[in-house]
Amino acid sequence: MNACIRSVVRTAVSRGVTVMGIRRGYDGLVRGEVVPMDAASVGGILNRGGTILLTARSERFRTREGQAEAVETLQHHGIEGLVVIGGEGSFHGARVLGTEWGVPVVGVPATIDNDIAGTESSIGFDTAVNVALEAIDKIRDTAASHERIFVIEVMGRSVGFIALEVGLAGGAEAILIPEVPFDIHAVCQRITGGRRRGKISSIVVVAEGAADALEIGRQIEQITGLDTRQTILGHIQRGGTPTAFDRVLAARLGFAAVDQLLAGRRTCMVGTVGNAIEVNDIDAAWTIEKKIDLSRHQLAQVLSV
Ligand code: F6P
Repeated sequence: MNACIRSVVRTAVSRGVTVMGIRRGYDGLVRGEVVPMDAASVGGILNRGGTILLTARSERFRTREGQAEAVETLQHHGIEGLVVIGGEGSFHGARVLGTEWGVPVVGVPATIDNDIAGTESSIGFDTAVNVALEAIDKIRDTAASHERIFVIEVMGRSVGFIALEVGLAGGAEAILIPEVPFDIHAVCQRITGGRRRGKISSIVVVAEGAADALEIGRQIEQITGLDTRQTILGHIQRGGTPTAFDRVLAARLGFAAVDQLLAGRRTCMVGTVGNAIEVNDIDAAWTIEKKIDLSRHQLAQVLSV
């Protein structure tokens, strides 16, 4: 997100536009937490995870009164357009500001879950996948040395994008995602079949929205009789040095967002499809169905024998 903030600020400054940052998202907008930003204020942040502007959930902004306060903040500071960087919740807020309060707003998708339609990848997804992959590679060392099964839970809310990507990249013997129903006995058969062929360890990647990794681990140990451990990667996936892919994506989307605002486009979102920038109405984020590529799941099954 820092790479995107940098891009928005420096693109706008290069066009002669004054930029303000809103601290703590909608909560800060309601409370008037506005800070002036210039090209220098976003120096040295490109390689830092998270966001220098901080983030927060806002109950107040869900109410009409809270929204009125947010709009008042914008008017008070003479803010004529808003770039919202975030996930689905942020986009719903952006739609409300755009359609119900007439605020010119552009959304930039940033969530590790990658569950926003209108873009193939959202900012943070690639970094989260790589952080999880590094962890899985390390766990694989113990799994192999101790001839164990490891069940590893990754984030993703109700979708399996992280699990599928990291499972395929990490050679997981089974990948459990909400989009594909699974049978625990079939998972165990894959594991025991692998043992018979000489495999000494197995990794099962579980999306948090698919099942409880602790329970899956208990069931696998009970059914197979093999030594099994569980690891929940958790918030480690939300931090770390952003990958080159994410930084470039953030740079391009931040630039595109400013471009759209200056061109007079309203209540829209920017994304990339087939490596090209695509602009959609902000509703596209949830009205278009974002399909997971199930052929990757099949590929992982074929390769991790
Ligand atoms: O939406 C991003 C995400 O990291 C999800 O993958 C996860 O379910 C959730 O946020 C965790 O939220 P919190 O940090 O509030 O526990």
